Amino acid sequence: MPGKVILGAQWGDEGKGKFIDIFAGKADLVVRSQGGNNAGHTVVAGGEKYKLQLIPSGILYPECVNVIGPGVVVNPKAVLGEIDGLHEKGVSTDKLFIDARCHCIMPWHLELDALSEAEKAKEGTAIGTTKKGIGPTYMDKSERSGIRMHDFVDAERFEEVIRETCARKNRVITGVYGGEPIDADAVIAEYKVYADRLRPMVRDTTVMTYDAIKSGKEVLFEGAQGTLLDLDMGTYPYVTSSHPVAGGCCIGSGVGPTAINEIMGIFKSYTTRVGEGPFPTELFDETGDYIRNAGGEFGTVTGRPRRTGWFDAVVARYAVRVNGLTDVVINKIDPLRGLPKLKVCVAYKLKNGETVTEFPANFMDLVDCEPVYEEFDGFDEDITNCRSFEELPATVQSYIKELERIIECPITMLGVGPARDQVMTIK
Ligand code: GDP
Ligand code: IMO
Ligand code: MG
Repeated sequence: MPGKVILGAQWGDEGKGKFIDIFAGKADLVVRSQGGNNAGHTVVAGGEKYKLQLIPSGILYPECVNVIGPGVVVNPKAVLGEIDGLHEKGVSTDKLFIDARCHCIMPWHLELDALSEAEKAKEGTAIGTTKKGIGPTYMDKSERSGIRMHDFVDAERFEEVIRETCARKNRVITGVYGGEPIDADAVIAEYKVYADRLRPMVRDTTVMTYDAIKSGKEVLFEGAQGTLLDLDMGTYPYVTSSHPVAGGCCIGSGVGPTAINEIMGIFKSYTTRVGEGPFPTELFDETGDYIRNAGGEFGTVTGRPRRTGWFDAVVARYAVRVNGLTDVVINKIDPLRGLPKLKVCVAYKLKNGETVTEFPANFMDLVDCEPVYEEFDGFDEDITNCRSFEELPATVQSYIKELERIIECPITMLGVGPARDQVMTIK
């Protein structure tokens, strides 16, 4: 620190929430910079399980300032639901702030997400989105027609902006998709209440983040989604509509790259993916089921079973490169217990016979490519109580050392269970 990024280095759900929570204990400010409530970050603290979607995982520390940065898309109803849920558990949100530049996810975005997915499904090209309206909201932002928080909480502009936008969106909903129009009056009545509640939290958070960095405070940039879901660097079009890579933290929080000096990439010891899209090391056999069950791999947001597969070092090296990772965490090692052999993909054999070690730009190259594996011995011991590298079985130690050799980036922490303390630092 002062500026530390913690991001997902695979297809999301690597356990970012747990590590953000751990480092937030030492941070003065935690900022989310992209995505929305498509994210689901689980934090297990004091025997309680928290599922955070929009609110930064630093919220569990009363002294920590939590910022929803300008690059995040905010569903007003959802964020208030999350705030209420935290209050019920006795967690204060007094230090939660939302940037005035955030774009609002409105009912038409949810509708358009569902309609577009249904349309694509007919052609077999659905993305498998979380249906939280993420893509349509970022589309409006790029089209320069979205509703930003400063307009949403502006009592004088509110009604006019909603009415105009709703009319425009209804033309698309009815005209393009043949859907039902949205009632602007009902939206105005419902969302006015949300605007009133959110108003005190809305400000220019970029000043807060900059001031914290300038005064040498510890700032954590909380990643959401994962590198391979990045709009440009991921498996396009099977991606999300924001920038989960490290560069996205600057754009989405409004600070320059010089504010960041550590970029930690979180990996699981295997790979998962929710939604559609290529996944070279995916397992369709009982080993895949075994990992899914052992790791509890069911979506935090949608409850969908996550697709599972072996650790993919082609992906890992790519993530090291495109994020400029300074170090790596291998999380969720414990679910691999009981598997006789552990495989790591080190290259892809493409359909044209070529073997590549760099992650291909065109996702079509990944379709039906054959993973080239290195194999390591598995382990049978319960490692969930290990708190140092030396306590781990020799086979696990050697697996981690091999991963570090293959991905060419220092592995500094390991995760062996969902709780805050089920981690270890490698010296
Ligand atoms: P995130 O989106 O990256 O924050 O990850 P999710 O919260 O969506 O998914 C990670 C899941 O794994 C959650 O249910 C966590 O409680 C759990 N988890 C995190 N770390 C570990 C670990 O080391 N071992 C096990 N078994 N579970 C873990
Ligand atoms: P966290 O932060 C895993 C996936 C969706 C879908 C694609 C596009 O918990 O790691 P979207 O709704 O964003 O338009 O869906 O991206 N996706 C995630 N997968 N973890 C996430 O977040 C995700 N957020 C989006 O499943 O494939
Ligand atoms: Mg998640």
